[in-house]
Amino acid sequence: MFALAEKFLPGAGLGGYALSPEGRFVFQRGKGARLWDVEGREYIDYVCGAGALIAGHAHPAVTAAVREQAALGGHMFGVLNETAIRLAERLVCDIPCAEKVLYATTGSEATAYAMRLARASTGREKIIKFEGAYHGNHDYALVSTFPRSVGNYPYGRADTGGQPLGVRESIVVAPYNDLATTTRLAEEQREDLAGIIVEPVQRIVRGEEDFLAGLRALCDRLGCLLLFDEVVTGFRLAYGGAHAALGITPDLASFGKVVGGSGPLAAVVGRAEVIDLADPGRKGETDAVYVNGTLHGNPMAARMTLAVLDILQPRGVLEDLDKLTADFCVEAQKIFDRHSVSARALCVGSMWQFLFTDKVPRSYADILASDMGSARRLDEALLREGHYVLPGVRRFFSIAHGQAEAEETLTALDGICHKLF
Ligand SMILES: Cc1ncc(COP(=O)(O)O)c(C=O)c1O
Repeated sequence: MFALAEKFLPGAGLGGYALSPEGRFVFQRGKGARLWDVEGREYIDYVCGAGALIAGHAHPAVTAAVREQAALGGHMFGVLNETAIRLAERLVCDIPCAEKVLYATTGSEATAYAMRLARASTGREKIIKFEGAYHGNHDYALVSTFPRSVGNYPYGRADTGGQPLGVRESIVVAPYNDLATTTRLAEEQREDLAGIIVEPVQRIVRGEEDFLAGLRALCDRLGCLLLFDEVVTGFRLAYGGAHAALGITPDLASFGKVVGGSGPLAAVVGRAEVIDLADPGRKGETDAVYVNGTLHGNPMAARMTLAVLDILQPRGVLEDLDKLTADFCVEAQKIFDRHSVSARALCVGSMWQFLFTDKVPRSYADILASDMGSARRLDEALLREGHYVLPGVRRFFSIAHGQAEAEETLTALDGICHKLF
């Protein structure tokens, strides 16, 4: 399989991650919280489709949704389909900031549309993004996402070759959880500022309530839009999105992963007057926003999403998932402390990560200052023992995980700490 992959895929990978040649494997199938590779080796899956698979692999209700819709036709392009309307109604009902819904195919597309809508509705160009924030794979997102050094605000660093300079110049980079600096940068750019895009939880760093509420007030004062990137947090941190729990209403919010049900669907939701700029009947008007895609409103993914939302909505489901994660991190911390390993088991909701640091990180700078080499060695050891984590990347629990998985991983962690540190 590797020989084939090397021949046809760059770096024998799928674009994002490269494992060391001796540690590579190829997945064949998944069920619940587990994955199996082509050699039959079993893994506990903590990557969970980058967070998309909150219901685990091959959940019977999701599989049934796919089967039913596939039998009815997998996609209809161009005009409406019934399932896409049903899902839009559900999203508006369940997401506090959603008055209307604009479909996209991926989270990246959803953040790109949110930025475009902000520019069109304000007639201004610049967007503030936070250092270390990931908003997807498009040029406007790939500025100072994983810079090797921090600071030099408002100037961003390109995270990709091939990025036009003008794109980078339209992005103002600010430090996360630092309202004073963000306010200063926003005021300096006030004539040109279309919006601020922010993740309510940036990687494993919780957005502080004062900071997020301060951004809301700042956007109101400067007449620009607050864009929440809820691609990861949407329906994971809280049903309806992190902003449902925070009580902060962004103008627009981008959803993906859980919204999509792990299929090809994402969405921008928010204020009707802004979303209506994408009304296809307005094409040709100066501020009309072009939004279109072959798979937009894909009924298969819409059905999968409805199935996943039904699973997540009952009271207690997300709370239990958060508790499983929090308990896991408490036990992991005890293991680190017992072995005098200077690591922290961090979690926010059902997202978690081990970082070698002496303080709870508040920003990308804090993460960069942590001992990433030790974290990598630990993560690679977990991976070798069949606990699927991507080294250095935040990970997830799904509702298919239970005590058995948590305990297996904690036992492995204990052994690894004993051997490695
Ligand atoms: C916060 C956030 N925004 C946007 C994206 C992009 O989503 P996608 O990979 O579906 O394009 C991601 C993907 O991981 C993400 O974590």
